[in-house]
Amino acid sequence: MNILAPVITVDGPSGVGKGTLCRWLANRLGFHWLDSGALYRLTALAALRRNLALENEAGVTAVAAGLAAEFVTETGGAARILLDGAEVGPELRTETCGAAASRVAALPMVRAALLQRQRDFWRLPGLVADGRDMGTVVFPDAGLKLFLTASAEERARRRHKQLSEQGVNASLKDLADEIAERDARDRQRAAAPLRPAVGAEVLDTTHWSIVEVCERALALAIARLGLPGNC
Ligand code: C5P
Repeated sequence: MNILAPVITVDGPSGVGKGTLCRWLANRLGFHWLDSGALYRLTALAALRRNLALENEAGVTAVAAGLAAEFVTETGGAARILLDGAEVGPELRTETCGAAASRVAALPMVRAALLQRQRDFWRLPGLVADGRDMGTVVFPDAGLKLFLTASAEERARRRHKQLSEQGVNASLKDLADEIAERDARDRQRAAAPLRPAVGAEVLDTTHWSIVEVCERALALAIARLGLPGNC
């Protein structure tokens, strides 16, 4: 950990646009980016590959603790994600993997096993941390905590658009149902439930474009972290 490096946490439900904002913000500020959801997705994928039941807390925790994952950052802030040495990016982004991730993420021992690994991303010159409990649990002392929301319909629409752009065909209705189920599990679990951190700026982005979301977040980062105004 590096106590001098500023941290911006971005939490919120599925499909709200956290990933797009965090990638943009990290790129703009030259900060590191933690995609914490990818760690839960990787854990779920590795557990499934080992034929483990996703409720097997001890087994899945062992997988999380020994996760052979690598984030290879490329120019432009994009990261290639490797599991056991092979690229798994597209497989990781499927809703099936997201749903499996949300099941393993409800297990307290799995969360504990991934905690230090997430904090290890905290380095100079700063970090943008994307997830569900970044402001509440992982970086409670962050200089800026954002919590993004948007209506369920708008989030399903955004996820649908994102998948279409990647050439993935998905039904809007199925996506809306999957997102609603995943959110309910993330909000209702006992371990680190999805909720705004104390002191978080809650931004309802339902009627905002992604450009407006990014500009608002950047203005808050400049003001709260004391960054130069020309960032
Ligand atoms: O953000 P993403 O959709 O990739 O996350 C997948 C799942 O991982 C979420 O639905 C949530 O259950 C879990 N997660 C979590 N805590 C985080 C990040 C993700 O519980 N910090």
